[in-house]
Amino acid sequence: MSLVPPPPLEARPLRRVVNDLRIERAADAEVPFPPGEHAPSLRRTRRFNVAPLPVLLEAYERYGPVFTLRIFHARVVFMLGPEANHFMTVAHADHFTWRDGHFGDLTPLLGDGMLTIDGDLHRRSRRIMLPAFGRERVAATLDSMLPEIEAVVSRWEDGAELDLYATTRPLALRIAMRALFGLDPDGAVARETDAAAEFEHALGFWAKDYFLQVLRGPGSPWSRMLAARRRLDAIIYDEIARRRRSGERGEDVLSLLLDGADEDGDRLSDGQVRDQVMTLMFAGHDTTTSTVSFLFHELARHPDELRRLLAERDAVLGRRDPTFAELMGDALPRLDRVLDETLRRYPPAWIGPRRSVRPFELAGARVPGGVPVDYCSWASHHLPDVWGDPDAFRPDRFAPEQRAALPRGAYIPFGAGSRTCIGMRFGQLEIKAIVARVLRDHTLELAPEFQLRIRQMPTISPRDGLPVVVRAR
Ligand code: HEM
Repeated sequence: MSLVPPPPLEARPLRRVVNDLRIERAADAEVPFPPGEHAPSLRRTRRFNVAPLPVLLEAYERYGPVFTLRIFHARVVFMLGPEANHFMTVAHADHFTWRDGHFGDLTPLLGDGMLTIDGDLHRRSRRIMLPAFGRERVAATLDSMLPEIEAVVSRWEDGAELDLYATTRPLALRIAMRALFGLDPDGAVARETDAAAEFEHALGFWAKDYFLQVLRGPGSPWSRMLAARRRLDAIIYDEIARRRRSGERGEDVLSLLLDGADEDGDRLSDGQVRDQVMTLMFAGHDTTTSTVSFLFHELARHPDELRRLLAERDAVLGRRDPTFAELMGDALPRLDRVLDETLRRYPPAWIGPRRSVRPFELAGARVPGGVPVDYCSWASHHLPDVWGDPDAFRPDRFAPEQRAALPRGAYIPFGAGSRTCIGMRFGQLEIKAIVARVLRDHTLELAPEFQLRIRQMPTISPRDGLPVVVRAR
């Protein structure tokens, strides 16, 4: 028997707006929303869509850790800071659903994957997949990661100009396809489809103005997103059919999804396997690509940090490939700190959108049931009362003593609790393997005049890519 899918979400945009307003009115009548900015404001909506960080930090200053902002039509409760993060992700995670929060907006592309399901279905699906993300399995993926990285980085020459973001994106997707799903990125169907570009097209839909998102019909962003989805689906369904036909299996996530059964013997249908694969490819390539870009952006601006990192890397690894134990153990502490600080300043999955299932109270504020409630790692990582000089890039914040002194819930780039990022270890390994290989032969300078601007939908990434000049070491 298949696991029972959740009921479909309303896809018609205007109907969703009407539903939201109806639910909001009923909720507010029972428990009023926390203080904040309740009136509709196009200016606030636009500011939030372009640069949410200052909007959230200003509201935190004015209203404290729990506040309301009306963004476009809907009032959203934001909860910031260590206590709120711990409340939402660990202590009272059961007060919230994911599917009915803004992650649900992604279902037209992702379907009912891990980011958009809850409860029993989520618990069972996660259990089926977990073995693929265990220490030993992830360690084995390094063997397929290293040649992919080598093939890209070994082509770089002194003085070459390249867009690091645009270069890393297809690399990260190839690594995810091969290491997680045993998919051949050069296979017949995949060869005709530039999967990274298709994802870029599809995800571009959520970066569009809301007014463009509601358009339908030929040529609209919606129809372009659906077309990209169809081409990505073709790669995934082709591989599912091939594996079912041949019976070929490995230790990859796809094999687990095809055969995996939970404790009651229930299995995933082909459509559910597709949704999980699509979700993992999305979650697993966009986040790592952005992190690699932001990390090199910061190294280029902090020569002392770069020097220290190069010295550590050369002393430990010389010119040979790193092992899993070196990358993920204690052998490269500076690399760990640089990565941790990059994920503090730029946590790619910057927002945790949920919907409350019942009213609750935190820090003296009451929150109604049934309404959008979001935590935000990006803003929580920049609270001046938690992080001294939060805009400064200082990896030594993550020296062991300083790290141990952080309040619980202060640092959450991978979320926390039962829905912590399932790909955390895989993502960290991949990023560190890329950084270690690039720095073996090269350093990267920012292109002259480059100023970082950040795009925030659906994950944060450099809006204009990351143009760099390669320097041979
Ligand atoms: C730097 C890399 C990454 C970062 C910063 C990151 C961050 C996150 C965060 C913050 C969440 C929780 C979101 C929330 O609480 O609302 C999450 C969940 C998730 N991530 Fe990642 N992620 C990364 C890499 C990956 C990779 C490589 C994969 C897959 C291969 C992945 C798959 C997932 C999945 C499936 C979930 C949902 C887990 C669940 O609901 O049980 N992530 N990630």
